[in-house]
Formats: sequence, structure tokens, C-alpha cells
Amino acid sequence: MARLVFLLVLFLAIPGGAEEFVFYPKILNTATGLPASPSQFISAEKCAYCHPLQYEQWRGSMHANALTDPLFRAVWRESSRETGVRTDRFCAGCHAPVGALTEQVWIRESGEIVIDPRADEGITCDFCHSVVAVKLLEKGGNPGNSGLAVEPEGAKQGPYADAHSTFHATAYSDVHTRSEFCGACHNVFHPVNNTAIARTYEEWKGSEYARAGIQCQDCHMVPPEVAARVADTMEKAVRTGLTSVFDTERTPFFDHDFTGANAAVTTLLDQWGRANEARLRLRSAARIELAVPEQVAPGGGMEVRVRVENVRAGHNLPTSMTELRQMWLHLVVRDAGRNGAVVFESGGLDSTGRLGPEARRFGAQAVDSEGRPTWKPWRIARIVRDTSIPPRGAATERFEIPLPPGAKGPFEVLARLLYRSLPQEVADSYLDRPGWKVPLVEMATARAEVRAAR
Ligand code: HEC
Ligand code: HEC
Ligand code: HEC
Ligand code: HEC
Ligand code: HEC
Repeated sequence: MARLVFLLVLFLAIPGGAEEFVFYPKILNTATGLPASPSQFISAEKCAYCHPLQYEQWRGSMHANALTDPLFRAVWRESSRETGVRTDRFCAGCHAPVGALTEQVWIRESGEIVIDPRADEGITCDFCHSVVAVKLLEKGGNPGNSGLAVEPEGAKQGPYADAHSTFHATAYSDVHTRSEFCGACHNVFHPVNNTAIARTYEEWKGSEYARAGIQCQDCHMVPPEVAARVADTMEKAVRTGLTSVFDTERTPFFDHDFTGANAAVTTLLDQWGRANEARLRLRSAARIELAVPEQVAPGGGMEVRVRVENVRAGHNLPTSMTELRQMWLHLVVRDAGRNGAVVFESGGLDSTGRLGPEARRFGAQAVDSEGRPTWKPWRIARIVRDTSIPPRGAATERFEIPLPPGAKGPFEVLARLLYRSLPQEVADSYLDRPGWKVPLVEMATARAEVRAAR
């Protein structure tokens, strides 16, 4: 009850009151500002007749599943309850944009999600290809919070100037070939206190990739091995493919899988191929190096340094909701002279799958307005620490390891960089999947041996 009162006070205290929180129609809007109806949008099933390749790639992607995503739904329900429905359309603006744009989405007190069936395809073809402009936010001049202008029933906006279809009008759109288009949803601000909850676009904008003209599309609309090459060479890949069933082969050509790092929720959605692609991307992203002394005195101490480098992510590593995501170092030191007995461990999981607070994590730590740690987007008031690693940057973690008196050596040091999309305790309490273990991805490993001094 106290929390509810507090939130109400928070909303009423800001200029403009609660209105500010429901961002429709202020940011996501039609190009004319006139209301839109779900019947003005065409289902992906129809686009599939002529664009089967695009459809197969998109279907099952996290864009197509942005609304069916069981983690999103559970968290969205909670935010609706806690804020007195004020976040219903705010969250839908990115996860179910047709529903938000047409105001045909809300959550009942019972937790039931109500959405017009013509608007429930998540981030669908006709939404993205009806975008005519990206609106830059007043603060900082960056895109964000679903700031897009949409023209329902207009020409299908795409990358080609000379495309022709008898089914729909086409128009060349520069916006679709640029990161700003993605940034409109991949830059998330708290609508009341303006705290950056996710700033993937801004991280990219300040990077070498942006300076070299490498856009989000160049890494996320190509297969993982091609993306790795793009990152290494700083050159766009030029691919050829079929844009429709009418033998229209074109260069350049882009895929619609949009895989990132989600190897967890994708498995809940039975998208095993995509989970695998996410693993490949995570494994290509980082490199780790160990620095250890040549020899140590058993009974003394050993200093180990682990350098983690972001080699191929076009933004920070990790990125996006890093208050929720977990990327950390697992370091184990074993005594080979005593049958590999563990003399030190950091970043291990306990029997319930929880990660201890001592683990060296990379990412943002957020607090609510009372200073309590939180990952919940609507409660975030401030980011107190952000240890995510910038593009082509590195971070070094230092471990001071005491060796027990009976230690013999030599000592084997194993460092692993691990990732999971959500903490086990969040899965346990938000997902209706008893016993489901959040998949772990080993992004990189390094080993070293340290002699014992005589
Ligand atoms: C998240 C937004 C988004 C969604 C959803 C989306 N597209 Fe695209 N699509 C794009 C972008 C961006 C490009 C252009 C990429 C570039 O040229 O840099 C594109 C390109 C295309 C092209 C040109 C050929 C190609 O593949 O490169 C076609 C045709 C197309 N999309 C059709 C579809 C269809 C059909 C669907 C649904 C099954 C769909 N799109 C879903 C963003 C989207
Ligand atoms: C401005 C766009 C935007 C808004 C508004 C937004 N989100 Fe998201 N959300 C995203 C993006 C982009 C991702 C995926 C990023 C990634 O993969 O790391 C995401 C991911 C998530 C995830 C993780 C899903 C998974 O499968 O791992 C949850 C949970 C979530 N959002 C909840 C919410 C809630 C609750 C709200 C409203 C309070 C909200 N989001 C509002 C863009 C948005
Ligand atoms: C009856 C067949 C047909 C259907 C149905 C269809 N398209 Fe197309 N579309 C085409 C053809 C043909 C082209 C031209 C391809 C080319 O020239 O490369 C095209 C081109 C496009 C382009 C590229 C435009 C450009 O200028 O770059 C986009 C984007 C697109 N379609 C999106 C869609 C979406 C979204 C849907 C569903 C709402 C859809 N299409 C339904 C036949 C169709
Ligand atoms: C209308 C808002 C919107 C637009 C536009 C958009 N995205 Fe997304 N994107 C999302 C949301 C929401 C999610 C997360 C869905 C979830 O996890 O429930 C997401 C997920 C992703 C993921 C998957 C992350 C993972 O961990 O697997 C990638 C990659 C991605 N988007 C890239 C892009 C790129 C590249 C573009 C531009 C071509 C783009 N997005 C445009 C809203 C958007
Ligand atoms: C040089 C290649 C490259 C570029 C450019 C790039 N990415 Fe990524 N992206 C990656 C790699 C590699 C990963 C996997 C590692 C990670 O999570 O950061 C990734 C992961 C992601 C994820 C999943 C994050 C998570 O932990 O859930 C999202 C969302 C995403 N990218 C969106 C974007 C957007 C939006 C842009 C443009 C502003 C972009 N990316 C530009 C390479 C790239």
C-alpha cells in the first residue's frame, strides 16, 4: 500500500502529471497525428505470399515474439498493477507497437492482456515498413521511446528506389538503412525521471563503428559469421538475395532474423536455431586474457588479473537492459598437487542457480527512488554504477587470492566469461516453468598454470 501511494505521489508531482507517462500520442504517432485503426495494418501472413523468405526469418524472431514473450508478459503485468495501468501503452509502444498506436491494448485488473487481434503480431512487417520518420527526442537529440512517425496504408517503405509491386505502393526510405530507425526502440528512457534504462543506440553512436558507417543492420540483419567479419574489417558486407517470389534478386540484401544475445527466452519459444545464433554472437563478442605471476609461495598470496575485451559488439558489452542481464567472470584456482582441490572460486552459482553478490559483473546497477537495488524498468530512478564495456574497449579485474597453508602447487587458473539473459531467481518467480534452468553461455575462456616456489 505504501508503495502505491508513493507512486501516485511521484506521478502527480511531475509537471503534466500522469499524462506524461502514457507516451501515446506524444512520441509514437501517425505522420498526420490522426487516429489509426488496426484494420489499416496488414497481417504478416499476407506479406508472406510474396515475401516468404522475409516471413520465415521474421517469424520466430524476438521481434515477432515481442508480445508473446512470456518474460515480457509477466513483467508487464506487474508493472501495470504497480503503476495503476500507466505503463500499459508505454511498454506496448515497443513490444506491441500497432496496439499502442491504435490504442487497442490494455491490461485488466485480473492480469488479462487485452489486444485487438489485428494488432497482436508483436513488431510486425507492416509496422516497420509503414514508418516514415524517426523523431529525435528533445533531450540530447537522440531517438528513443518508440519515437516513430507511421503512415498506415501508405507506400511500403524500403531500401530500394526502383522497387515495383502491384499489391502495394513502394517508397525509398533512407531511414530504414540507418541505426536511428532501430534506435527509436533500442534507446529506452524512464518517461518520468528520464533515466536511461537501455542506451544501445547511444553506445553505438559514440563508437568507431558509427564513424565507419557500420549500422545496426550491418550486424543484425546478416548471419553471425558475416557480422563477425564486418566487425573485424569495418566494412559492410554486400549480399545478394531474393526480395520477393517474382525473381527479384537484389544487392544489397538483408536478413530478418534480428538475433542478438537471447539464448534463454528463445528456447522457451522453441526457437532453438535462434538460441544457437545468439550463442554464436555472444562467443564472437569478447576475448579474455589472464595475467598471473610465474611462481608463488604456497601459504602466501597470488594476484590474478583478467582482462575482458569487447572485440565485436557494436555497442557496450553487455548492452540494453543490463540491469537484468548477467555477464560475469567465473574464476577458479585449483591445486594440482592436491588432486585439483579448489583453493579459490569467484562467480560460481549456488545449488539454486543464484549468483552471489561478490561476483565480478559487467553491466548497470540501478536503484529505485528509495535507493533499493532494482532491475524493473518502471521503478528505476538512478543508475549507480555501469561496468558494461564500450565497443573495442576493455576492463581489467584484479583478484587477490590467498593460498591456504597446506597448498602444494602447481596451481591451475581457469577464467570464464559467462552470460545469461536473466537471473535464475527472476525465472523462478516470473516464469511458469518449475525446474527450468536459465541457459548459460560461455563467451570466452582462458587458462594459466602457476608454479609453486621452492
Ligand atoms: C524491425 C523492423 C522490421 C520488421 C519487423 C520487418 N522488416 Fe523488412 N526491413 C527492415 C529494414 C530496416 C530493412 C532494410 C535494411 C537495409 O537495407 O539496411 C528491411 C528490408 C526489407 C525488404 C527488402 C529486401 C530485404 O530483405 O532486404 C523487404 C522485401 C522486407 N523488408 C519485407 C518485410 C516483411 C515481409 C516483413 C515481415 C515478414 C518484414 N520486412 C519485417 C525492417 C523490418
Ligand atoms: C523504447 C522501447 C521499449 C519500451 C518502451 C519498453 N521496452 Fe522492454 N525491451 C525493449 C527492447 C529493445 C528489449 C530487448 C533488448 C535486448 O534484447 O536486450 C526489451 C526487453 C524487455 C524484457 C526482456 C525480455 C527478454 O526476452 O529477455 C523485458 C522483461 C521488458 N523489455 C519489459 C518491459 C516493460 C515492463 C516495459 C514497460 C515498463 C518495457 N519493457 C518497455 C524495448 C522497450
Ligand atoms: C502480391 C505480392 C506482394 C505482397 C502480398 C506484398 N508485397 Fe511487398 N513487394 C512485392 C514486390 C513484387 C516488390 C518489389 C521487389 C523488388 O523490386 O525488389 C515488393 C517490395 C516490397 C518492399 C521494398 C520496398 C522498397 O522500395 O524498397 C517492402 C518493404 C515490402 N514489399 C513490404 C511488404 C509488406 C510489409 C507486405 C505486407 C503488408 C508486402 N510487402 C506484401 C510484392 C508483394
Ligand atoms: C518498434 C520497436 C523496435 C524497432 C523499430 C526495432 N526493434 Fe529490435 N527489438 C524490439 C523489442 C521490444 C525487442 C525485444 C523483444 C523481447 O525480447 O521481448 C527487440 C529485440 C531485438 C533484438 C534481439 C535481441 C536478442 O537478445 O536476441 C535485436 C538483435 C534487435 N532487436 C535489433 C534491431 C535492429 C537491428 C533494428 C533496426 C533495423 C530493430 N531492432 C528495430 C523493438 C524494436
Ligand atoms: C559490429 C557489429 C554490431 C553492431 C554494429 C551492432 N551490434 Fe548489436 N550485437 C552485436 C554482438 C556481437 C552482440 C552479442 C553480444 C552482446 O550482447 O553485446 C550484440 C547484441 C545485441 C543485442 C542483445 C543484447 C542483450 O544482451 O540482450 C541487442 C538488442 C543489439 N545487439 C542491438 C543492436 C542495435 C540496436 C544496434 C545499433 C544501434 C547494434 N546492435 C549494433 C554486434 C553488433
